[in-house]
Amino acid sequence: MQTRSYPKSEALMARARKVIPGASVGVVRVAPAGMYGHYALDYAAAGYPRYFERAAGSRFWDVDGNEFIDYMCAFGPMVVGYAHDSIDNAAIAAFRKGNTVSIAAPVMIELAEKLLELVQPFTWAFFSKNGGDATNQACMVARFATGRRKIVVVNGCYHGTVQWMQAPGSPGTLDTDTADVLHVDWNDVDGLEQLVSEHRGQIAAFFSSPYHHPVLVDNEMPAPGYWSKVEKLCRKEGIVLVLDDVRAGFRASLHGSHRYFGFTPDLICLGKALGSGHPISALLGTDALRDAVSTVFVTGTHYYNSGPFAAAIETLRVLQEGDGANRMLAIGTRLAQGLVASAKRHGFDLRITGLPSMPFLRLANEPNPVLTEGPQALHTGLHAKWIRSMVQQGAYFSDFHNNFVSAAHTEEDLSRTGEIAEEAFAKLAREQ
Ligand SMILES: Cc1ncc(COP(=O)(O)O)c(C=O)c1O
Repeated sequence: MQTRSYPKSEALMARARKVIPGASVGVVRVAPAGMYGHYALDYAAAGYPRYFERAAGSRFWDVDGNEFIDYMCAFGPMVVGYAHDSIDNAAIAAFRKGNTVSIAAPVMIELAEKLLELVQPFTWAFFSKNGGDATNQACMVARFATGRRKIVVVNGCYHGTVQWMQAPGSPGTLDTDTADVLHVDWNDVDGLEQLVSEHRGQIAAFFSSPYHHPVLVDNEMPAPGYWSKVEKLCRKEGIVLVLDDVRAGFRASLHGSHRYFGFTPDLICLGKALGSGHPISALLGTDALRDAVSTVFVTGTHYYNSGPFAAAIETLRVLQEGDGANRMLAIGTRLAQGLVASAKRHGFDLRITGLPSMPFLRLANEPNPVLTEGPQALHTGLHAKWIRSMVQQGAYFSDFHNNFVSAAHTEEDLSRTGEIAEEAFAKLAREQ
């Protein structure tokens, strides 16, 4: 069995730790317990590569020259392949014309028009950089439009790192930051009704992803009738229904995940896949919220870069032309079937939850250690061991987060991943 080692990654990490706390920024930093709602992430300890040299299509190569089939897709942005020629060329052509200038480029309007044509029934778009910019703006718009303070979120949902989105008591936040954030369990319509009756006339918005894709635990689909009940309740009570489609956006439907699940939000937040790795996010809304979004003050020096707009337009074109969302759902279904069958052959019970294009994997032969021992058990247990073995043979998966497939994953990727899974399960069975 061919396994990977990471001497250059480790040397770089030691160097990085001296100058960059956590050795990186963003979601791939080494996070001490206390961040991310009190669990510690350490990819290096978990046997993962740390720094990449290059990426193309569905694969990346780390600084040690190891090749990986990538099932994390940059945590979502990689949707049609890394280093995609037509997308990168569209961005480069816009960069060469100026990218950030004292006034905006028309390509921004073109993207708004394209998005509103595809993702309905919205009538305006506002652009920013990260998903968290869009979700925070949605909160401000909802509060201003309704004149109410409270926001309801689903337990375990992630909307970004602005103070109100963090778990109460998170380092660096004040108790007042989260005082107006109420929590309800996923699929719990009765709980939501109860919250609404306890805080009648005070709730500005209900925030949710289209289905429940928390980290660490199995993902959950909406129960039959869930979304129509939530939508009805929000309409009746004047609560702005905000769909956080930052992660799932374009992996269920090119027309927004509400189309796939059959409901209509008032605001939708998009990011990640939208720019295919070029930094851009969007908030789209209905006419009723046009005045509010025009009035709340949100801006950023780089919000109007022309390159990412051009990249996003081309990404949408490529997704539309190649029926990207359905392709990803089909590839994810095949991946899941292969992995589950391979697990079974070796006596393992692999549970796969969530959208096929964003599968959350868990070996269920033993209880999820995060639930029995707490979040510090994140990188321990049978499941983490299996994932580590997959990574060490060149199939890059996450042991704590949902994974992603892209429209660039090929037959060859799936069949090589199947071979890797066979070896990894055989090794796990031997070691039991
Ligand atoms: C559902 C969801 N909402 C919002 C965000 C925040 O997006 P960003 O990290 O681009 O700010 C994320 C990021 O993972 C996400 O998954």
